[in-house]
Amino acid sequence: MSKFLAITDVTKVYKAAKGQSVTALDDVSLDIEDGQIIALIGPSGCGKSTLLRMIAGLDGEYEGEIAWATPPKAGRDIGFVFQEHALLPWRTIQRNVALGLEGKGADKAAINARVAELLTMVGLADFAHSYPSELSGGMRQRVAIVRALAYNPRILLMDEPFGALDAITRDRLQDDLLRIWEQTKKTIVLVTHSVEEAAYLADRVVVMSARPGRIRAIHNVPLPRERNQSTRELPEFAQFANMLRGQLA
Ligand SMILES: Nc1ncnc2c1ncn2[C@@H]1O[C@H](COP(=O)(O)OP(=O)(O)OP(=O)(O)O)[C@@H](O)[C@H]1O
Ligand SMILES: [Mg+2]
Repeated sequence: MSKFLAITDVTKVYKAAKGQSVTALDDVSLDIEDGQIIALIGPSGCGKSTLLRMIAGLDGEYEGEIAWATPPKAGRDIGFVFQEHALLPWRTIQRNVALGLEGKGADKAAINARVAELLTMVGLADFAHSYPSELSGGMRQRVAIVRALAYNPRILLMDEPFGALDAITRDRLQDDLLRIWEQTKKTIVLVTHSVEEAAYLADRVVVMSARPGRIRAIHNVPLPRERNQSTRELPEFAQFANMLRGQLA
């Protein structure tokens, strides 16, 4: 494994109206290895979404350094799944997933084949011609995930991708994500409010503290890398999740 991304002493201050300012991130440093899944947890408002946006290059105004081993190409190397699904309501599911593939020189047949493959992967092949408003929240979230994967980015940034889902759908999508990760070994940075989700998915869990967002602890997940339903029943799983819960309190 090699270093993929080095975040060093990143501080982000939002300047609001009337001269007020909010320090969203304070001196955050984190190294991310190629092919790892990193979970970011922390209380609401501690800067998790802000950190993802800085990594994604969506906001370049910060102090400190975000250094890539190989700099990402805009619109190609970074897949982003937003806190809200952000599908385009006027495009069908198929055309939402095709979004990142259009204008990249691929022909229509190749795009359609790739989109069909992705929708099949998440059980949505029958909904290719539906509109986002005709899908459930969980289905829309699955579309957002495969849309982010469509152009084969090097890193996938996910902001509470399963936050709004019921427990069963959430477990299923976590397993979908693990399967996708096993096939692709993408580097993934995932924000979640669930300590169980962090423990189940991640190689390393980063615990952030309340505003101004700082890194409180970074843990290697003490579980075998191969995760499945039985992982959730291991005593180490519950112990680790409870330890994380304690650090958030
Ligand atoms: N565009 C913005 N302008 C001004 N302040 C902002 C902006 N975006 C975020 N903030 C502030 O920065 C802080 C961190 O916000 P951020 O959205 O990163 O938190 P978060 O950890 O993702 O929270 P949540 O878990 O609720 O999603 C908050 O205090 C927020 O008010
Ligand atoms: Mg957020």
